[in-house]
Amino acid sequence: MYRTHTCGELRLTNVNNEVTLAGWVQTVRKFGSITFIDLRDRYGITQLLFGEELNKQLDENPLGREFVLQVKGKVSERSNKNANIPTGDIEILVQEFSILNKSAVPPFTIQDDTDGGDDLRMKYRYLDLRRNAVKRNLELRYSVNRAARNYLHEKNFMDIETPFLIKSTPEGARDFVVPSRMNPGQFYALPQSPQTFKQLLMVSGYDRYYQVVKCFRDEDLRADRQPEFTQIDCEMCFVEQEDILDMFEGMIKHIFKTVKGVEITEKVERTTWEEAMWTYGNDKPDIRFGMKIANLKFPQHTFPAKAKAAGDVLEGANFGVFDNAETVVAIAVPGIAEYTRKQIDELTEWVKRPQIGMQGLVNIKCNTDGTFKSSVDKFYSEDKLKSIAEATGAKAGDLILILAGAEERTRKAMSELRLEMGKRLGLRKEDEFKLLWVLDFPLFEYAEEENRWVARHHPFTAPKPSDIQTMINNNPRIENAAEYLKHPYANIKANAYDMVLNGNEIGGGSIRIFQRELQEKMFEALGMDKDEQQHKFGFLLGAFEYGAPPHGGIAFGFDRLCSILGGSESIRDFIAFPKNNSGRDVMLDAPSSIDDKQLKELQIKLG
Ligand code: AMO
Repeated sequence: MYRTHTCGELRLTNVNNEVTLAGWVQTVRKFGSITFIDLRDRYGITQLLFGEELNKQLDENPLGREFVLQVKGKVSERSNKNANIPTGDIEILVQEFSILNKSAVPPFTIQDDTDGGDDLRMKYRYLDLRRNAVKRNLELRYSVNRAARNYLHEKNFMDIETPFLIKSTPEGARDFVVPSRMNPGQFYALPQSPQTFKQLLMVSGYDRYYQVVKCFRDEDLRADRQPEFTQIDCEMCFVEQEDILDMFEGMIKHIFKTVKGVEITEKVERTTWEEAMWTYGNDKPDIRFGMKIANLKFPQHTFPAKAKAAGDVLEGANFGVFDNAETVVAIAVPGIAEYTRKQIDELTEWVKRPQIGMQGLVNIKCNTDGTFKSSVDKFYSEDKLKSIAEATGAKAGDLILILAGAEERTRKAMSELRLEMGKRLGLRKEDEFKLLWVLDFPLFEYAEEENRWVARHHPFTAPKPSDIQTMINNNPRIENAAEYLKHPYANIKANAYDMVLNGNEIGGGSIRIFQRELQEKMFEALGMDKDEQQHKFGFLLGAFEYGAPPHGGIAFGFDRLCSILGGSESIRDFIAFPKNNSGRDVMLDAPSSIDDKQLKELQIKLG
């Protein structure tokens, strides 16, 4: 037997027990004729004491960090207790030891605050994974996985595997492709998601499906994106949107309760896509804090349901920046009217950075004595400034920040500025969790370069029942690109929903189209002729002819969910073997070239 106990297990109640432990050497401390060693395994650390006799053997066989060691000895109460670790009351008086394997000096310290940089840690990820901080993340990942599976199992969902070597499933990214040796010149695509398979499973009558499954997307990477990532992918039949929202709100609440001990009793808040864009400039708003956008000026056609009112406060001042702008939006940042010139200049530079892309930043200080001071005093009287302040809902002591420009860019910039100010003021607390459903997304998006519609979610998403006739009765062709917003398709809403957690999209799904005719109309709207439809999705259209039930589903970004629950911005910390920002596995050195023989077999010639 290699061990009788783990390194995290022994307590005072074990004193005098004869035990065998095995693990890795964390530290070696020599004090004259005795040596202390901290032995580590997955479960913790236990102190070993090597007395005089064994010390001589240690001198002959010196131990280094990360050596694999087995010791036999007796548990003893420590005179010098360590309250910081669970085994801190005891130590092992070592009677025998055996070095199971040596270790080269590790390239970085295996500690919580390691001296290893990102690249080095990724190159030696197997060592990095020994660190407590990383281990805790993987443990959290496993408990989220278990909680989700338990919940879904209880609700009668069945885990069914779907293939990885498939034909393209469009989720808005590029495919990773795999050449087929047996079918020269032909390629499989790796699934961007199991979307079409889970729909086929509904046609087959497996009315509640789930899978914790790898998805592959060749897209630009960010902290919350990996080229291969994991979804908790689900589908149900005989459901409406409300059934899905209910079921998966339940799943997330169950995960919070089991993993974080957080009981969420109230219903998850809901907003529409349009309201989210209006209020936060963003379809995945962080609602842990307010600072809502005041729409001082905006293009009416973008928000047809909103009254024109607020813009009036800006008029009549001959301030070109506002007068010529399509959109003017403001936020009232609480309690920072005292900001110095230097601080405001820095913020102005911040919005001028290329990533944000604004020309400048207008500010109004709402002084605590009730007066106003602004960077546009020249144009606006104090009375006017007061009216603007009222329109933004600012209070005394607030600093109003105003951006002006083209609608899309300005709104996006304001969304970023709001998040930045929220961060600077400490309003985006790591231990506070705010969930939100975003509903009623537009079904289509306009692709300028191709002058056509693309599916905002994916082509299998159903329009709202009230919009189906609009879709069927209108020609999708866009005659006048400049006026695409006036096309009836621009206003068609989807039966789609996203779940947002602290400003991150953690899941998304929709009610699906399940009739062949409507699916064909959808493909046609996306610019696919009958041949292309048949070539790409003939299997699905065919399946819809054999009694396809109404169905819908959702997929959660498992890595994202874990990273937010674990309080990290980067999903890499929660993936055992992640890729770096260029999509490389630096440990394996992949991707890499393949040899000529392989290329020949695959009949591939490199250009
Ligand atoms: P969607 O494309 O919205 O939907 O993906 C679902 C969720 O997966 C996560 N996600 C990612 N996580 C890490 N890296 C990535 N590259 C990445 N891309 C997406 C997000 C997202 O909310 N088939 C549909 C689901 C459905 O309709 O049922 C789909 O894949 O958290």
